[in-house]
Amino acid sequence: MEDSIKIENLTVRYDDRSHKRDMNTILNQFSLTVPKGTVCAIIGPSGCGKSTLLKVVAGLIQSSFGVVRFGDKPINPKNFRIGFMPQNYGLLPWKSVHDNILLGCQIKGIAKSRRADMRSLCERLHIETLLDRYPHELSGGQQQRVSLARVFLLSPDVLLMDEPFSALDAITRDAMQEVFLDLWRGQSITTLLVTHYVEEALYLGDRIVIMPERYTDAITIIDNPLARDKAQRMGQKFFSMSCALRKKIIQMRSRS
Ligand SMILES: Nc1ncnc2c1ncn2[C@@H]1O[C@H](COP(=O)(O)OP(=O)(O)OP(=O)(O)O)[C@@H](O)[C@H]1O
Ligand SMILES: [Mg+2]
Repeated sequence: MEDSIKIENLTVRYDDRSHKRDMNTILNQFSLTVPKGTVCAIIGPSGCGKSTLLKVVAGLIQSSFGVVRFGDKPINPKNFRIGFMPQNYGLLPWKSVHDNILLGCQIKGIAKSRRADMRSLCERLHIETLLDRYPHELSGGQQQRVSLARVFLLSPDVLLMDEPFSALDAITRDAMQEVFLDLWRGQSITTLLVTHYVEEALYLGDRIVIMPERYTDAITIIDNPLARDKAQRMGQKFFSMSCALRKKIIQMRSRS
């Protein structure tokens, strides 16, 4: 069976202590397929459950119902290498940059075999001079590059990125997208990428998912022929499609 990510009828509820109700539903029967070797970009209003979705796929939280498979096996960190870049980059403050980058590989017991790759990866990301520093001694953009090094060093089966370039100014963000694509093309990892930027979704995502504000409304899935097409990025088609995407997002919000 093809190694797609298959999210099937996922329902996630959190304990809602503040409202003294039983449970707060965030995702309800959420289904989505991400074909092997593609990027699926996810856009949606704050609080709609994007990070929650990634955490369930990463195996960090359990769904109330439903299942996530990769190929024919349920996804979990025991069966697969899962590269997760959380919203705050997930660097451990008490570990040096060097040790942070090796962390995922150490957990999987493959740190030694990756040492040579680590050097070239750090050079490509221009962080080779930062290895002895600690996360608090880095800029936001440097922390993002360290986090990218960590996930790509792992050569994961599945890549989950939660707003990876959100803290950057527009020009640096464009540059980081190119850095990401340069690394991604080498491995073509099946990827779920959360973003708040329409243009980022259009440039990176083969498929774009718009999540609604309320879990009771349906998601919209758009196939994107312009993904990773640099020649089109400043062109008319890209502009028209970003306008159409914006319209759709506004339409979905005004419904709720
Ligand atoms: N551990 C938790 N316990 C209870 N509620 C939670 C928990 N984590 C998240 N939530 C709630 O679930 C909802 C979805 O949160 P989530 O972080 O998935 O949103 P998001 O779409 O990623 O938002 P943003 O764009 O702001 O990052 C929010 O209302 C949030 O308050
Ligand atoms: Mg989030």
